[in-house]
Parts: sequence; C-alpha cells; structure tokens
Amino acid sequence: MVEINTMNTKKTIRILAIETSCDETAAAVIGEENGQPVILSNIISSSVNLHAETGGIVPEVASREQMKYMVPVVSQALINSKHEIRNSKQIQNPNDQNSKPVSDFDIRISDFYSEAIFELQNNITHIAVTAGPGLIGSLLVGFNAAKTLAYARDLPIIPINHIEGHLYSALAEEFKISNLKFKNNDKIEKLKNEKIFPALALTVSGGHTMLVLMKNHGDYDIIGQTIDDAVGEAYDKVARLLGLNYPGGPEIAKLAEHFRNRVHSTQYSVPSQDKNPEYCELSTEDSRSPIVFPRPIINDGTFNFSFSGLKTAVLVKVKKIMAENNLQSATDINLRTKEEIAAAFEEAVADVLTFKTVKAVEKYSPRAVIFAGGVSANHYLVESLKLSLDTARDRKVKSIEPDIQFLTPPKEMSGDNAAMIGLAAYYHIQRGDVSDWSSVKVDANLKLI
Ligand code: KG4
Ligand code: ZN
Repeated sequence: MVEINTMNTKKTIRILAIETSCDETAAAVIGEENGQPVILSNIISSSVNLHAETGGIVPEVASREQMKYMVPVVSQALINSKHEIRNSKQIQNPNDQNSKPVSDFDIRISDFYSEAIFELQNNITHIAVTAGPGLIGSLLVGFNAAKTLAYARDLPIIPINHIEGHLYSALAEEFKISNLKFKNNDKIEKLKNEKIFPALALTVSGGHTMLVLMKNHGDYDIIGQTIDDAVGEAYDKVARLLGLNYPGGPEIAKLAEHFRNRVHSTQYSVPSQDKNPEYCELSTEDSRSPIVFPRPIINDGTFNFSFSGLKTAVLVKVKKIMAENNLQSATDINLRTKEEIAAAFEEAVADVLTFKTVKAVEKYSPRAVIFAGGVSANHYLVESLKLSLDTARDRKVKSIEPDIQFLTPPKEMSGDNAAMIGLAAYYHIQRGDVSDWSSVKVDANLKLI
C-alpha cells in the first residue's frame, strides 16, 4: 500500500475506472458527494456480436477490439463525467446494427480528445482497473492503459478483483439514488450506516459462481462456489447444444420465458425449499416444464455448486429427442420442445441457487442478500430468489432478519462494466489501500481472497 501524490488526496475523489476482463471495453468515472460515491459516467463497448456465431469468446478477437476502443471509450467516459451523463451509454461494436459504433462518435474531431484530456489532467484523482480474473490478453489491454495513465499523471492506482466489482454493482442503484435525493433518504442512510453488512452475495457470471459473505467493505469469506462450470457457462453451453448464438444466457431465458407465458401466463412458480429436489416433484406444478433435469449436489450439505452434470443431462436429452425424431441436428428440434428444455434447465438452476442461498441466509443471518454477475440479468432467477426469501421470512425462520434487503444491479450494470470497478475502488481508497503504478500486477487467475 503506497500513498502517492498526496496533493491529490485533498481534491474531491474522482476515479477513472477501466474494465477489460472479457469481451467488453469499459470505462467509468466515480465521484464523491456527501461522503458517498456517485457514478458520473459509465461507458461500455462490447464485441459480443463478433463472437455470436463461434459459440464463445475468441480471446484474440476480443483483445484486438479492446485495443481499438480503449482510448475512445476512456475519452467518452471522461467527457460524460463532466456533463454527469450517468446512465450507461452503450457504445457497441460496429457489427451491431442497432447501436452507434464508437467510430461514429466525433472521435476524429480533436475537440473530443482535448475535452477528455482536460478532465484527466484537472479532475481525476485516482485510476482503478480490473487486475483479474479474466482473459489475459483482454486484461492486459485495460491494465496497461491504466498503468500508463497512472504513470503519466502521477496518480495512485487501485487494482480491483473483477468479482469484487460485481459485488459492488448491486449497490449501484443506491449510489445513484444517493446523488439524486440524498437528503432524508432512509435507504441511503441505511447504506451509509452500513446496515447492509453482513451481506450474503450470490455472484454468478460466465466465469464464476460463488456465495460470498461480505462482513464489511473489503472483508469477505467465500462460503461456497462451483466445483466445475459457472452458471453462465452452463447457459452458454446449453444454448450451443440447441444451436443458439452466444451469449446463451439471454437466448435460453427468452425460450424459457415463452414456455412460461404459454403455460401459465405471467405467474412464476416458487421453487419449494421443502420438497426432495433430486428429480423432485416440483415439476408436477402446473407452470413447470414436463421435462425434468437433475439438481446437482443440492443436498450435499455444503454451499458449493455443480453445473456440468446438468449440462450433460441436457445433452443426453437432446440426443434422445434427435434419435426419436430422426433429426440430423439439434437446430431441427421443434421450437416448443426447445422451450421446454430451456424452461426445465432454468428451473433446475433456480432451484439449486435459491435452495443454497436460503440455507446460507438461515445460517449467516445477513442484513442483505445480493444477487450480482452477468446472470443476475435473468428475471426468472431474480424473482425466484426474491420469492424464496419471502417464503422463508414468512415461515418466520428465527435466524432470518425480518427487514432483510434484496439488492441486485440495475440492468445496465449486471454485465461487465467499469462503474462497478470504480465503486469497489472507492472503498479501497477509504481504507488507504492504493498502490503505485510500478508495483501493481495483473493476474488472469486472481483470487477474491
Ligand atoms: O458478468 P458477465 O457479463 O461476464 C463474466 O464475467 O463472465 O457474465 C456473462 C454471462 C454469460 O455467460 C451470459 O450468458 C450470462 O452472463 N447472461 C445470462 C443472462 N444475461 C447474461 N444468463 C442467464 N440469463 C440472462 N438473462
Ligand atoms: Zn463479469
């Protein structure tokens, strides 16, 4: 821990945060008001469309795109922060027909960069960057940019674990509200007084699946994690099995949603905590898929997860359907059956996640439950978790806090973004945990603790 450039500590904190752990090039600026962090800008450029047909990220393609977009994205984040354009402005890849590529912005006009450079020179006090885990080629692009900026401007740098960033994304809504109606806002007072700790965080993305007990800012225990595939990875693999594009999560979610709308209009079924889950009778509920997949290691008494067996169960089912119907490819399976498979898969995931999370809530009595990571964009999973928590609270389980909060990121911050990295960095700065550019290291396998 090195405190450098002490002159800057007197200025109001303004963090330029950079995140490039996977296929996004992201930058954000976090400021401070009334002793609270506020998101001043949040820019994301994604190369996801370039990976749609390969069934997964092609690392070299991702990092080449990041090289192209790094400077424009950082510049846009700096400019937006000046005008406090807080809402995440998606700057997508040119291949995405629906959104403007960075190159369509006025990046060739020198004013664009001079305004950004002015912000960088005059207002930024800290640089934050994702140091891992992630794809090494991608991490290096953002990390090197951050190091160079810290060196050139003689600013402290805060290397952040990507998973810690996801934990903080769930607090973003609170920070945004704090900026708008800070005074007399109970919700914010709660956060300020750190009434959310201990918080139990279920963080689920394409690269990790974890239950983390946040005892305080920077004080974490991992109480469980996947022993094989991450949930997002399982979604992506099941999508590929069904001939759907990457990323598979939203595709599977859409099919499952169609099934539920068809069967049960808008009602969600509540995963029961009481029934025997291994091939359990939950499927007999009206709104459940007629197909049933296993709930791996749900009853093993730990808070760990396993999803590779579930993926294999889907593969076996898909092959059986193909054989029975003389199909050459899974793409030829009729849409109705695909929807049933997607819904059955999502039910199995929801049951395992909710069962283990509620068990952990009973054990650790957290004041807040956080659901974060790319997969937290999934509406069904969010609703299943909320309903299971409500059900457990209604059962008046003694160890469950009656006013337990449920926190999840705003949609634009569920996937990878730099605002979450900046928010996490803000609390590192409060603890004096900042570094010098020459001492920080990138690590593709960086551990949370
Ligand atoms: O956090 P994230 O953007 O990147 C990683 O750190 O991995 O998470 C990406 C993952 C992908 O596996 C993607 O399929 C999944 O999140 N995902 C979803 C949904 N949206 C994204 N999974 C399920 N349902 C969704 N709606
Ligand atoms: Zn992520």
